[in-house]
Amino acid sequence: MVTAALPYANGGVHIGHLAGVYVPADIYVRYLRLKGEEVLFVCGTDEHGVPVTMRARKEGCTPQEIVDRYYKLIKKSFEDFGISFDEFGRTTSETQTKMASHFFKEMYDKGVFEEIESEQYYDEEAHTFLADRYITGECPHCHNLGAYGDQCEKCGSTLSPDELINPHSTVSGSTPVKRKTKHWYLPLEKYQQWLEKWILQDHKEWRSNVYGQCKSWLDMGLKPRAVSRDLDWGIPVPVKGAEGKVLYVWFDAPIGYISNTIDHCPSDWKKWWKDPETRLIHFIGKDNIVFHCIVFPTMLKAMGDYILPDNVPANEFLNLEDRKISTSRNWAVWLHEYNADFPGKQDVLRYVLTANAPETKDNNFTWKDFQARNNNELVAVYGNFVNRALVLTQKYYQGVVPPLGSLTPADEQTINEFRDVKSRVEHLLDGFHFRDAQKEAMDLARIGNKYLAEQEPWKVIKTDPERVKTVMHLSLQLVANLCIAFEPFLPFSSKRLREMLQVDSFAWEDLGRTDLLHEGHQLGKPSLLFEKIDDSVVEAQIQKLKDMEKSNASQQPTQQEQESKSQDAAPVSPIQDPCTIDDFQKLDIRVATVKACERVPKSNKLLKFTLDDGLGERTILSGIAKHYQPEALVGKQVCFIANLPPRKMAGIESQGMILSAIAPDGSLSVTSVEQPVKPGSKVE
Ligand code: 2FM
Ligand code: ZN
Repeated sequence: MVTAALPYANGGVHIGHLAGVYVPADIYVRYLRLKGEEVLFVCGTDEHGVPVTMRARKEGCTPQEIVDRYYKLIKKSFEDFGISFDEFGRTTSETQTKMASHFFKEMYDKGVFEEIESEQYYDEEAHTFLADRYITGECPHCHNLGAYGDQCEKCGSTLSPDELINPHSTVSGSTPVKRKTKHWYLPLEKYQQWLEKWILQDHKEWRSNVYGQCKSWLDMGLKPRAVSRDLDWGIPVPVKGAEGKVLYVWFDAPIGYISNTIDHCPSDWKKWWKDPETRLIHFIGKDNIVFHCIVFPTMLKAMGDYILPDNVPANEFLNLEDRKISTSRNWAVWLHEYNADFPGKQDVLRYVLTANAPETKDNNFTWKDFQARNNNELVAVYGNFVNRALVLTQKYYQGVVPPLGSLTPADEQTINEFRDVKSRVEHLLDGFHFRDAQKEAMDLARIGNKYLAEQEPWKVIKTDPERVKTVMHLSLQLVANLCIAFEPFLPFSSKRLREMLQVDSFAWEDLGRTDLLHEGHQLGKPSLLFEKIDDSVVEAQIQKLKDMEKSNASQQPTQQEQESKSQDAAPVSPIQDPCTIDDFQKLDIRVATVKACERVPKSNKLLKFTLDDGLGERTILSGIAKHYQPEALVGKQVCFIANLPPRKMAGIESQGMILSAIAPDGSLSVTSVEQPVKPGSKVE
């Protein structure tokens, strides 16, 4: 049972989603299917929650209209990219309403939940409780007047509505009041011990980013989490006294995996979710780890008879041209736009995203790299080998597979080299190392090119035509092997290649064999598998990105962005091993005033500070360019370490280090002092 995170139906899907979740999940599923495993691949749209209502309000339409529109768009984008879901459903389906209500009711009846009353902001004019995003006011840090109740977009600080100066409701404009409200909480702390054993002891094999994030949540101690909300868009809480309340979107959404399975196979869905022989794998992005490793398993455990995930291979994030992908700033490559701009080139994007997959750390997509990987790898290595093998066979033998003669040591060596590929790729795919697995497939094409270059059939044909038959026979076997090895990664190209080879299908088991195309088999017409991409094409994409960003600067962030900035998304890092007061006193930390601040040319990370440190001028470089406009820092006071040895970066000497707070989502905020102080003052 393979699931891929349900995307919110309040916007399109971009390359970050594809790289992080859907391409790896699809590779894995295609691989399992090729091996003949029984596998079900389920996804759908996540259609409840505040992001949808906000989008609807902004566009002056109903939430239903929003989700109907994006369900269609998202479904089509995935189909276009060959993401081979068996079922793509919606969390507004009837089955989902029944199933999510059933989960809540059953847990409620078992006494799992705690009922807790708390105070929340309420809009007395609109008669509604307000989600954090619906409250705006002045940011206590940068005094931006349009900060939201969860975050200030100007300075990037995470806020709670209580911190806003002069809060008001975006629904009616009135000043909200605090009102008591009751919610149901999942008492995660009661499952802490069980989770510690299940994850920390029994799943040491999980990816280190996943294991590490779970450990950090567990080390901090789990707390109860509300599973209901005061909202009018969602699945109603199915118990008495819950009027006007709906299930929290994160309670509802993962149950969508189950409902979508039920819609796919109503009579035998249980074998996918309740049979201990079934392996359950969740593909997600890193901002979803806590929900899939801690919250949803706790729900499944509380229900009693469900299986738990066997693995949760979460990816880190993909950046675009060295900057965080942002749907609000329209700094993204949308799949539907890529498809319009690059028709028939889905595999190129699949290839590049896997080659740069953010498996162990955040990674970067650039259009230049996209072009280079297409031209230097897909065209020059894979496409070139296939084309030479097929065109020469056409030329010498009218496309009929020639016989295999006696083997030379070079032939034997090549056969041995590609015989091993199967076990290597399997090992990598079984361990969710998609990028290395794809590299193995490309290396197979390199073996082919090397073989042809060394055997030079185009020369030998004149002196020893019999020998060329063997060389071409083996080259064609290699082409067939490539077709299989690339099938999970580049399904469109493998399909085209199969057509050229006139073969209906291969099985994974065939990989490594040298008798896949028999002597006398008639091949189809060869054509190019990949085409070169010109500079002008990628330059136009870079320009488009810049233009779109300018013209769309005012969109709301999606919930994914919001969640990744809120404390919900990532836990703070655990406290390090103890240090002594002497260790601490070795650091000479001081306050300086920023006299000037500018970007460092050719670096998108570094800002150059000219500081007044009380003794004179000091230059410090700091890697915060993605988080601040340099002008905004001039005049501020910052804390810095004054006694580090100078260090050269980008050709400039940096004389110390400015201290910044790193939020769990990676955003940085420079540390300052609460009152202005004399430059050079020590921090102790
Ligand atoms: O982060 C997101 O985009 C969520 N909509 C993912 C939900 S995954 C699952 F639990 F449904
Ligand atoms: Zn602010």
